[in-house]
Amino acid sequence: MVADLATVEAELRQEIGRDPGVVSAPMADLFAAGGKRVRPALVLLSASCGRYDLGRLTPAAMAVELTHAATLVHDDVIDRSPVRRGRPTVAASLGNEPAIVVGDFYFAKAYEHAARSDSTEVVGILARAVMEICAGEVRQQAIRYRYSTGVEEYMHRIEAKTAALLAACCDIGAVVGVLPDVQRSALHSYGRLLGLAFQIADDVLDYLGSEGELGKPIGKDIAEGFATLPLMVAMEDGPTAARLKKVLHDGRKLGIQDALAVAEIVRESRAPQRALAQAEDFARQASAELSAIEAGQARDALTALTDYVVSRKL
Ligand code: IPE
Ligand code: IPE
Ligand code: MG
Ligand code: MG
Repeated sequence: MVADLATVEAELRQEIGRDPGVVSAPMADLFAAGGKRVRPALVLLSASCGRYDLGRLTPAAMAVELTHAATLVHDDVIDRSPVRRGRPTVAASLGNEPAIVVGDFYFAKAYEHAARSDSTEVVGILARAVMEICAGEVRQQAIRYRYSTGVEEYMHRIEAKTAALLAACCDIGAVVGVLPDVQRSALHSYGRLLGLAFQIADDVLDYLGSEGELGKPIGKDIAEGFATLPLMVAMEDGPTAARLKKVLHDGRKLGIQDALAVAEIVRESRAPQRALAQAEDFARQASAELSAIEAGQARDALTALTDYVVSRKL
């Protein structure tokens, strides 16, 4: 499996190297800068619960990572993020307009590779996940600077922007691995729950992490106007909410000092730790889904991922 992930990686680099320099240079940089490759790992691991056809799985795994990379390039335009994987974002180094087109190019390339898996179903699954991510990103714009937004909206948001793709990765692996429906559906649910845990943990890291480890700035969610679960949990405590409300006003962007103050109040309330407990709960639910899968190395690795997503530091 590890060797197969390395093959996916090598083929991705080769493939990107063949693209016109104007689009490939920033994408090659983004790949070279790192990234955890969680999504291709999910494709391979899910498939290895069934029939493992590396010839078809490699392009499928490449497709999901290309999709992810394209969403990051677009996400950094939308979030106006200066840094990704410890380096300037494509938007920061080339400008928003080129970044949008570079993202578009790689969405298309993702479908090209998905098609090489010889399954229209795989292409459909990936397309639907991207549609959901886009709808989620658009909805997210509507709640920017609305600090009073609640947990229900948050869950809906992270279902779309993160859980949908992780679920799709497992589903794609299950389709190529020709798994029976019961197992396919268990893996799909596993991917979704893992995605929810993953995104909550990411949002906790935005409060508790370090920029050096994460490769992206800390406290940027609130500075950019996005309320996430740690803030929502902090708001549940009366005195903390009173302090926060002095700084947070719906519709108003926070200045840098105020954003730092909000992050500090949230940290002092220990809300990030309580939000992380919710991520751990989703991770446990994800793990429970795996009881439908035959015991073995693949299942063990998928189980280990549920621990990893909530303990990761980057
Ligand atoms: C970042 O995804 C975007 C989120 C869904 C939180 P990852 O944390 O998987 O990013 P890389 O690929 O490892 O950089
Ligand atoms: C990224 O969400 C999700 C997608 C790429 C669609 P975030 O905006 O929370 O992720 P980071 O913090 O930029 O990685
Ligand atoms: Mg972002
Ligand atoms: Mg984030």
